[in-house]
Amino acid sequence: YVRPESERPNLSEVADCVNVPIIDLGSGDRSLIVQQIGDACENCGFFQVINHGVSNEAAEQMLVVAKEFFHLPVEEKMKLYSDDPSKTMRLSTSFNVKKEKVHNWRDYLRLHCHPLEKYAPEWPSNPSSFKEIVSNYCTEVRKLGFRLQELISESLGLDKECIMRVLGEQGQHMAVNYYPPCPQPELTYGLPGHTDPNALTILLQDLQVAGLQVLKDDKWVAVKPHPDAFVINIGDQLQALSNGRYKSVWHRALVNADKARLSVASFLCPCDDALISPPKALTDDGTGAVYRNFTYAEYYKKFWSRNLDQEHCLALFKN
Ligand code: OGA
Ligand code: NI
Repeated sequence: YVRPESERPNLSEVADCVNVPIIDLGSGDRSLIVQQIGDACENCGFFQVINHGVSNEAAEQMLVVAKEFFHLPVEEKMKLYSDDPSKTMRLSTSFNVKKEKVHNWRDYLRLHCHPLEKYAPEWPSNPSSFKEIVSNYCTEVRKLGFRLQELISESLGLDKECIMRVLGEQGQHMAVNYYPPCPQPELTYGLPGHTDPNALTILLQDLQVAGLQVLKDDKWVAVKPHPDAFVINIGDQLQALSNGRYKSVWHRALVNADKARLSVASFLCPCDDALISPPKALTDDGTGAVYRNFTYAEYYKKFWSRNLDQEHCLALFKN
């Protein structure tokens, strides 16, 4: 778990909670929202949304049941353990245990979530309310994700369905991240710097314990948990689809000495055979396509064949 000195978090250089934009989706002024989203995607890659339509209850229950799950006895949890990334339901640890040299101070439950009828039956049945609570949460978050994709599409000057057309019937995955207290947090990571390989990520953070940091203008900044907000970030696929205009930004999770931290990341992913390619309107200005066309299946395979904290996976697809 101990990183070589040059790779450590260097906490004294982290700026505290600088402005990750907060966007009010309930403001009623659609053109303002579209403009704010466009600015945030272009300049920051990260933003937070409030009045997002996901009920407080669904989010709270999600965090409670996640906590209960990770507090189950180790023997109970180990029944679900696997380090095989191709499994559609597994409890695992670190990131990619078989590929990495240094581990990360994290356990995570990884679930496929769409279609629910297909995947929910294989989810944990302990705690007994898990399936119901998580199904409900997934359904609400999916709606939010689609709404955001429409707004993002419009902010690129495209028709609102354009992004969803390219992504096809989208998959949905969830990582329930549990970061135990760590005696020497300055030596390691919960998750080292990475970009998300999917299209769009919707993160629910523990309100009590911060830990997420985002790379902004070459500096790591800590994102302070905002009550009732989701943290949204652009994944590699939307960077490619926007022809590099919107950024899939580096981010990482730090651990801390006295408190466990929980986060729930929901990932919307293109369907496997979606051909990721920028709509013509975005390459018309003569710049041409920054990345070669690829299918999501091809990209995903490449992503998991690597270690997490290497160069941007998209760089491998540059034209
Ligand atoms: C992730 C992630 C951040 C966090 O799961 O991809 O970036 O704060 N999580 O847990
Ligand atoms: Ni991430």
